[in-house]
Amino acid sequence: MKTIFEPFRIKTVEPIRVTTRDERERLIKDAHYNLFGLHADDVLIDLLTDSGTGAMSAAQWAAVMRGDESYAGSPSFYRFEAAVKALMPFTHIIPTHQGRAAEAILFSIFGGPGRNIPNNTHFDTTRGNIEASGAAGHDLVIAEGKDPGGLHPFKGNIDLERLEFYLGEHGDSVPCVMTTITNNAGGGQPVSLANIRATAALARKFNKPFIIDGCRFAENAWFIKQREAGQGARSIPDIVNDCFAEADGMTMSAKKDAFGNIGGWLALNDDDLAEQARNHLIRTEGFPTYGGLSGRDLDALAQGLTEIVDEDYLRYRIRTNEYIIERLDALGVPVVKPAGGHAVFVDARAWLPHIPPLEYPGQALSVALYETGGIRGCEIGTVMFGAHPDGTETPAPMDLVRLAIPRRTYTQSHADYMIEVFEDLSRTKDSLRGLRIVRQPKLMRHFTCRFERL
Ligand code: F0G
Repeated sequence: MKTIFEPFRIKTVEPIRVTTRDERERLIKDAHYNLFGLHADDVLIDLLTDSGTGAMSAAQWAAVMRGDESYAGSPSFYRFEAAVKALMPFTHIIPTHQGRAAEAILFSIFGGPGRNIPNNTHFDTTRGNIEASGAAGHDLVIAEGKDPGGLHPFKGNIDLERLEFYLGEHGDSVPCVMTTITNNAGGGQPVSLANIRATAALARKFNKPFIIDGCRFAENAWFIKQREAGQGARSIPDIVNDCFAEADGMTMSAKKDAFGNIGGWLALNDDDLAEQARNHLIRTEGFPTYGGLSGRDLDALAQGLTEIVDEDYLRYRIRTNEYIIERLDALGVPVVKPAGGHAVFVDARAWLPHIPPLEYPGQALSVALYETGGIRGCEIGTVMFGAHPDGTETPAPMDLVRLAIPRRTYTQSHADYMIEVFEDLSRTKDSLRGLRIVRQPKLMRHFTCRFERL
């Protein structure tokens, strides 16, 4: 079948307000060419993030009504905890209001000046939390993971040789080893079960806890099932269990692969670390049976975790990305291949070679997508990763535009519309201009910095 079968029907709709190009040119200028500054109802197709933007199911909305708001010992917490443990066999499940809160708690324990933390690629909030604690984060993804067009099946894998060398070199200053599934900042690319196991083995050899950032665990498991030898006949929950059985803990944004609009958790096996984490949680998030969440959020997540591992859903989800990538590829738009889990990544540096990295080709393309078609994507490149704590700026390894696909939210017609916008842009792209930053904060500048067109 050529048509993507969307394995759901629509029960509630949200209208999209249609804007004109003139209107959009004014709106993005008023937002200082930063797409985070737009009002969401001025956007036609919002691909800024797949985080918290998915559609909840009827069963999740029903679970919301079941939510119990007791301060301590809510049955909603126990349903949530059981749903997490059914997939991820950790001893302690500590709910937080989102993933970055779990990271902040983790690095209140593992961070600190002089410490070094490796990952395949740290996501921006992970890096932000590490650096805010005074520690340093390092990205050790395999070389293929930085080649946008290369067809390696697991471009999120950690380079094991580099990791071994790193652990030898940095010794006691390394508090833990991390890996992120899927590797968001590197294009939503998966990590193989073999690589997870080998990373865990190295962490054990050097006596370091191994922590998985599991935001998109179900998408990662789908890729393992499709692409890894010997995994094709296994169920998604079995593969998920195998991945997390290797780890000593995890951070999670439940706004991704738990179908939540909000939520997250930190999981740990070690009792002492969990006690420290819970003490921090009580100070910053809430009592350990709700973290930063309401009971109804916890119940929605418990239900969402049973839905995210559905193979019909995952097939539709990944096929949507493949479809967009195939069509963009046919148009000659350079895209990260093979398809990642949650997003389509356009290689703006390659498509707009007349704009140098320090004039932000990814940002220029994001602005043009909005002006042309009301599409809101997100620069993942030199704006996001180019600034360093010492005030210097260098080009990021890649200048990508991420078109993140919210879960169960848009249809194949919306995808076709996006492709038409690219068709239009491929005729005018050579006249696009770069930008310069006129105002920026010290950390995570991409959220709030202001640009001017060159
Ligand atoms: N880790 C990864 C890999 C992420 O992608 C995110 C969020 C986080 C941690 C933080 O989780 O948002 O719940 O605090 N990524 C979103 C995105 C924001 O658009 O990719 P959070």
